[in-house]
Amino acid sequence: MSKIRAKIAGIGKYLPERILTNEDLEKMVETSDEWITKRVGIKERRIADEGVYTSDLARYAAENALKNANMAPEDLDLIVVATVSPDMYTPSVSCHVQKYLGAVKAAAMDINAACSGFIFAVSTASKFIETGTYKNALVIGADCLSKITEYKDRSTCVLFGDGAGAVVLTATETENGVMSCVLGSDGAQGDCLTIAGLRVDEVEKERRPFGNPRTIWMDGGAVFKFAVRVMESATREVAEQGGVSLEDIKCIVPHQANQRIIEGARKRLGCEEEKIFSNVHKYGNMSGASVPVALCEAIEEGRIQHGDKFVIVGFGGGLTWGSALIEY
Ligand code: ACO
Repeated sequence: MSKIRAKIAGIGKYLPERILTNEDLEKMVETSDEWITKRVGIKERRIADEGVYTSDLARYAAENALKNANMAPEDLDLIVVATVSPDMYTPSVSCHVQKYLGAVKAAAMDINAACSGFIFAVSTASKFIETGTYKNALVIGADCLSKITEYKDRSTCVLFGDGAGAVVLTATETENGVMSCVLGSDGAQGDCLTIAGLRVDEVEKERRPFGNPRTIWMDGGAVFKFAVRVMESATREVAEQGGVSLEDIKCIVPHQANQRIIEGARKRLGCEEEKIFSNVHKYGNMSGASVPVALCEAIEEGRIQHGDKFVIVGFGGGLTWGSALIEY
């Protein structure tokens, strides 16, 4: 019997309409378009309206992906959502999405691996498909970081935005689909990127002089060094595991946090600029949503076509990292 793989049957995205530009931020904190462009490469980001939460963004992206896959919600066996900004502790974002879609047959769960979350979710869903447990899975990366961003803190508020991206994975016996996945975590370094939950201790309070403990804090320099290193190693490892060389890979879709991180990883990989997809200038860092939205746009722009092999790769809070080699 031939091997079952999880192939991409459809893809979709959703970005809120409201745009926050560098010029807008100049009026809010002591920053400049020049600093943000040079140090991070972001020009604008999308911000969800008041009353709009992660599950709303996730649901709209999911509807677009299902439409693209020509699949009904009732056909779904599994919904996995990657997020660090759920509307509520429970129900999960995935259960909200299941309800909105009417995907009555699907089991639903959230995964928290911060900006690497979508890759963890793809890996998890594809294992259920490869083992024959499920046939159709909806995998979503969605975050509403504007709701947990301190807009008085210039070191973080210029970086983040809101959005969602989704893929429908389906069982196939063809060569297309997820070929290999690499996941990793280093909890010992977790302290360099935190968002307080129930525990708000003195350390977390001190880190946030503006008062709100439930906002993103990070040691940007430490995350930067870690990011460049793991983006290279996770890309090399997943290619090796899948039995392909970097030359065989048509496109690399990295997590979109900072253009300098993307560029640093590209140089270490020795890849030409055309091979690396970037849209960080338009959306900033949307955590779990960055990779699927970038993947969606890479496909829309024809940078990835049927039969091409590509890699998604990311890093994030936890600390975590992950990569997947996929044939489209
Ligand atoms: N505008 C103007 N100046 C600023 C700003 C700003 N928005 N932010 C910081 N600065 C200043 C600093 O105060 C500092 O000034 P000083 O030299 O007088 O002290 C100077 O700019 C340099 O600051 P650095 O923090 O050293 O700047 P750096 O070049 O390292 O860039 C950045 C900071 C963008 C955060 C970078 O380190 C980075 O991208 N790190 C990775 C972050 C990341 O990818 N996180 C992803 C995970 S997020 C998640 O999982 C939810």
